[in-house]
Amino acid sequence: MAAPAESRKRIESLRDEIRYHNHRYHTLDDIEIPDAEYDRLMRELQDLEREYPELVTPDSPTQRVGGEPSDALQTVEHRLPMLSLDNVFSEDELHEFHRRVAEKLEFEDGAQDLQYAAEPKLDGAAISLLYQDGVLVRAATRGDGTTGEDITHNARTIESIPLRLLGDGYPNMLEVRGEVFMPLAGFEAYNKKARAGGEKTFVNPRNAAAGSLRQLDPKLTAERPLDMYVYSVGLVEGGELPGRHSEIIEQLRSWGLKTCPERRVVTGVEGCLGYYESIGKKRGELGYDIDGVVYKVDSLAMQRELGFVARAPRWAVAHKFPAQEELTVVVGVEFQVGRTGALTPVARLEPVFVGGVTVSNATLHNIDELHRKDVRIGDTVIVRRAGDVIPEVVSVVKRRRPKKTRRVHLPERCPVCDSHVTREEGEAVARCTGGLYCKAQRAEALKHFVSRRAMDIEGLGAKLIEQFVEEDRIKNPAEIYELTNEELAERERMGEKSAENLINSIEASKSTSLARFLFALGIREVGEATAQSLAAYFGNLPAITRASVDDLVKVPDVGPVVARRIRDFFDEEHNLDVIRQLQDLGVHWQDTDPMQVAEDGPFTGKTFVITGTLPGMTRDEAKALIQKEGGKVTGSVSKKTSYLLAGEKAGSKLSKAQQLEVEILDLDALLALLQH
Ligand code: IVH
Repeated sequence: MAAPAESRKRIESLRDEIRYHNHRYHTLDDIEIPDAEYDRLMRELQDLEREYPELVTPDSPTQRVGGEPSDALQTVEHRLPMLSLDNVFSEDELHEFHRRVAEKLEFEDGAQDLQYAAEPKLDGAAISLLYQDGVLVRAATRGDGTTGEDITHNARTIESIPLRLLGDGYPNMLEVRGEVFMPLAGFEAYNKKARAGGEKTFVNPRNAAAGSLRQLDPKLTAERPLDMYVYSVGLVEGGELPGRHSEIIEQLRSWGLKTCPERRVVTGVEGCLGYYESIGKKRGELGYDIDGVVYKVDSLAMQRELGFVARAPRWAVAHKFPAQEELTVVVGVEFQVGRTGALTPVARLEPVFVGGVTVSNATLHNIDELHRKDVRIGDTVIVRRAGDVIPEVVSVVKRRRPKKTRRVHLPERCPVCDSHVTREEGEAVARCTGGLYCKAQRAEALKHFVSRRAMDIEGLGAKLIEQFVEEDRIKNPAEIYELTNEELAERERMGEKSAENLINSIEASKSTSLARFLFALGIREVGEATAQSLAAYFGNLPAITRASVDDLVKVPDVGPVVARRIRDFFDEEHNLDVIRQLQDLGVHWQDTDPMQVAEDGPFTGKTFVITGTLPGMTRDEAKALIQKEGGKVTGSVSKKTSYLLAGEKAGSKLSKAQQLEVEILDLDALLALLQH
């Protein structure tokens, strides 16, 4: 039966598509679709060609497996072909593989005791190393399995590849095979440096390894942090090797070749599955990428009996981990509000199975990332889920962008509480200004509110706060002061005694200071020290809530950014409401006189750093004194520091000041300056 026109068309379009991706992968080093998708395209084409063999052409991508040799490197014929491995993706498929092995070996009992050498499937580039009388004479890439490229010049730069074997007893001619890979730490460091220097980065460690091996200039390869593990032998002449795979690898190790420390010999399918699981758990800590594990019948005699089918041995199989990257479509983008008010764009996806689970949401990190990746609703994207890490959108497949897509904009108002959203210039993160009013931020804000250095409400722990917020029982800090003894005592796991204690500490917290109260409000950038400065400078709350940005920057330690934050906070009517309620419910403090900052006091224009224990004065008091006289107090010594006020047990700040020749004062000397 002749092939239907539809199949012919599909075959042509698959070939075009695969050629395009081959070019991107091998020549441009710029991958556009995940491996899993590429594999699917290839498989579809292979299936169609199998169905209609008359349509197979010599230039079909299926006819060339593996990398195309580059013109620039010498080609090398592998006397024994470098094979590939069949894959299994499930327990069932593994049982099936084992059953075939047992059958071929004519085991009667199901071969439950059959030993497999189990190893991680390293995600790098395969390499062949030829040792003649123990000396490295040639290194080659796998290429298409039959013809590879000579990369001896580059292999010599990789430290874990011995130029000469150790010890003795090796065959005259020994070809070892293994995987060159780039450890993750090296990969990250390399990319970081490349990014800083405006150079091209690698998409993943595998690409990095493959690309580095095929450099023309070995100096470039030498700069790449490459490593290598050997996992098999090829040609062996003039010598004998042991009769089991595991023993051979051990032997190679004794000759100075590097082998993977995660190798094990396991028994039967059960042993294989146990190994798969344990490596799966360890995967994130190995320090290098793997994409599954490999099981090899350990006995070489059995391997010989089993032989090969096509390009893969019958005695080995790769048990792949679920792909960590998959394609799916963005059906929407929503903004989630975190505990600190940060808005995170989250892509809603057509559900896709990736990294072992079904994923329907993926983070886009922040609005800048979203725009940099140019993710739009309707786009096809690569989603990545590695281990327990939150799934993320990696990139858009622009070629698959439909005509109509919707761009995503930062919302002006918080999707949770409708407060304004702000974003500081140069900052990637946009935030909701709702603060305590916003439910998303409430629990965290409440924890801060009750903390020891803020309102100091003992007995109101994180768990309890989360429950109250969850039940909507506490919507703002004022409602803490409405809790009753009876209500608390009725709660699960809270006895009468602890209910009473909590009520008492809530009551005690009502009497506070303006500084603590300001700190408790959780205004962004207003830490304890800034709250103290504000309280000391203005002396009362209404003055602070009314202060303009220009007024606020006059406060010692308050710069324009902090001033803006304070102003934003008090511009939200909700926040003022909560403050009024708190005061109505009895929260109070002692107002103080506003600080009279000398416009041209003795310390105007001078910057101080305070360190050590001062005699008869706390550091806060000394700070207030300096500020009152027009001086500024900062936390660390620099060339701009005018004076270091040093008390007893002054440490590193003192030595830093000495080193920078900053004038050092004790308290007496400071007070003396004020006399003039
Ligand atoms: S054994 C006949 N062992 O997987 C045996 N291969 O799909 C062939 N690989 O090109 C190879 N880790 O680059 C073997 N522990 C391991 C491996 C491994 C990674 C790669 C290798 C090969 C591909 C086969």
